[in-house]
Amino acid sequence: MKFKHQPVLVKEVLQYLSPKANENFIDCTFGAGGHAKEILRLTAPAGKLLGIDLDPEAIKAAKENLKNFRNRIVLVNDNYKNLKEIIYDTGFNKINGILLDLGISSYELQDQTRGFSFKVSAFLDMRFGNGKKTAADVVNHYKEEELAKIFKEYGEERYSRQIAREIVLSRKKNKINTTDQLVSLIEKVYKNKPKPHKIHVATKIFQALRIEVNDELNNLKKILPVSLEILEKEGRLVVISFHSLEDRIVKHFFRQEAKDCICPPESLECRCQHKARLRILTKKVVMAGKEEIISNPRSRSAKLRAALKINV
Ligand SMILES: C[S@@+](CC[C@H](N)C(=O)[O-])C[C@H]1O[C@@H](n2cnc3c(N)ncnc32)[C@H](O)[C@@H]1O
Repeated sequence: MKFKHQPVLVKEVLQYLSPKANENFIDCTFGAGGHAKEILRLTAPAGKLLGIDLDPEAIKAAKENLKNFRNRIVLVNDNYKNLKEIIYDTGFNKINGILLDLGISSYELQDQTRGFSFKVSAFLDMRFGNGKKTAADVVNHYKEEELAKIFKEYGEERYSRQIAREIVLSRKKNKINTTDQLVSLIEKVYKNKPKPHKIHVATKIFQALRIEVNDELNNLKKILPVSLEILEKEGRLVVISFHSLEDRIVKHFFRQEAKDCICPPESLECRCQHKARLRILTKKVVMAGKEEIISNPRSRSAKLRAALKINV
């Protein structure tokens, strides 16, 4: 299977990252390199790009897909949460912009060995890289309350408790190892209940498991302050998220870092000495237009926020 992925919001990413000749960028979620290729075109002749991806398949494919940019690209197979160590090891510096296009690529979603999709029969793996815990480990070993909590918090699933119960009852008889087994348990719970609007009944549970397996929200919380720290003054940070949990983290971080004082509202005088470190470039979240949604349905849930680093 070819590592293919149609990037979302490309025009908007370029508008806010605003790459210029000879500037350096980091793409923390390199994927199939769609955004990276466009950035590299605009930073010729000498601008460099550091591409990071947790998925070894993405890095392998990138060596072929972006071979024309070989001299200006550094590829690293790692978790972006380790960005500080990565730039130390690679000596990558003078960073003018950082892109995070969160979540999953179409390649990963369709890969029959990964178990990310409820539409594809596969082992319940769901790891982006080679972490220790798979989704099968989570559904077979977590306590019922832990499963319910994950489904509620990471999936915002209405029937989180009932689905957790069903999983625990079923795994007493047989281990739950495949996407099909999990989907039929979720369908059983939903049998006489109102179905969610526009999405499959398994969507939220699969999302919740993926977030848990890859610790996605904590990775995002770690990378945002590091990104800001390593950017040059006037450097740009662009984040595309695909669900409200991630978007909330980005929105909150941007708002906090855009303020000079973050003392509680009841404080009579400022004690925090916090100084604004960024200026928000997107007053409202940016979303795909109708045309893009038709040509790339995945863009429907994409939410882009951008900021500019001020004060060093
Ligand atoms: C939506 S895709 C990015 C697509 C890319 N912008 C393109 O144009 O092809 C997200 C990518 O992030 C990677 N990823 C997810 N979590 C990661 C993490 N913590 N560290 C590094 N890469 C991660 C996934 O493996 C996937 O390839």
